Amino acid sequence: MRIGIVTIFPDFVKVIKEYGVIAQAVENGLLQIDVFNLRDFTTDKHKVVDDYPYGGGPGMVMKPEPFFRFFEFYTSNYGKPYVVLTSPQGRRFDNKVAMELATREQLVIICGRYEGIDERVMKFVDDEISIGDYVLTGGELPAMIIVDAVSRFVPGVVEEESVKNDSFYNDLLDYPHFTRPREINGLTVPEVLVSGNHEEVELWRRKESLKKTMLKRPDLFLKHQFDELDKKALISLFKELMKDAR
Ligand SMILES: C[S@@+](CC[C@H](N)C(=O)[O-])C[C@H]1O[C@@H](n2cnc3c(N)ncnc32)[C@H](O)[C@@H]1O
Repeated sequence: MRIGIVTIFPDFVKVIKEYGVIAQAVENGLLQIDVFNLRDFTTDKHKVVDDYPYGGGPGMVMKPEPFFRFFEFYTSNYGKPYVVLTSPQGRRFDNKVAMELATREQLVIICGRYEGIDERVMKFVDDEISIGDYVLTGGELPAMIIVDAVSRFVPGVVEEESVKNDSFYNDLLDYPHFTRPREINGLTVPEVLVSGNHEEVELWRRKESLKKTMLKRPDLFLKHQFDELDKKALISLFKELMKDAR
């Protein structure tokens, strides 16, 4: 997958491809992440990207011409991308949106600054995405969040089994994890995890997932589509509760 990020702060954004799983995916050629400096698409000596708003009022607005030049450059070199504008006015970003974006061959993400971009740039935009109901100073952090979450759904970047067990995949939160040592300061690992019984481990994990989701995110729990393992886990959970209540 090819991802382009358009920003006036390229050094800020570049770090996204320098660490961890994403750095590995870039190295293995699963992801290509290009960070474009919007100022490279200006023509004046001072590389100005903002101007006063028509109609007056506070703040500055990102000028349209550098974006027009950028899209002309991009499409003539790489073809038509799916274009996302980071914006507090967009649809809310979540796991499902990330999965959907990961199916695109080419994604370009625009980082706004100041009061936002000149409305005429919207002619290039396919999707407006918000990372939450608050206003940030720029689209760089949202773009990095989008790239990180989307990358995890690009085949091969993260083990498929791991993605499927993660929180939100099936409207469930992830189960608790433990590693060595088996005991620390009197705190031990649940016996079932060291039993070697894979079926029991699977059942225990699903029970814990259901329990966590019910308690922390009842809204997700009510959306979850229950499969056979869920039913078995719920019955087992219910039996445990009844036993404790007696
Ligand atoms: C100060 S904000 C502009 C806010 C704009 N005047 C408004 O109220 O809708 C500057 C830029 O930060 C980015 N941004 C701010 N909050 C965001 C959010 N919650 N989600 C995504 N992008 C955001 C956008 O790219 C936006 O153009």
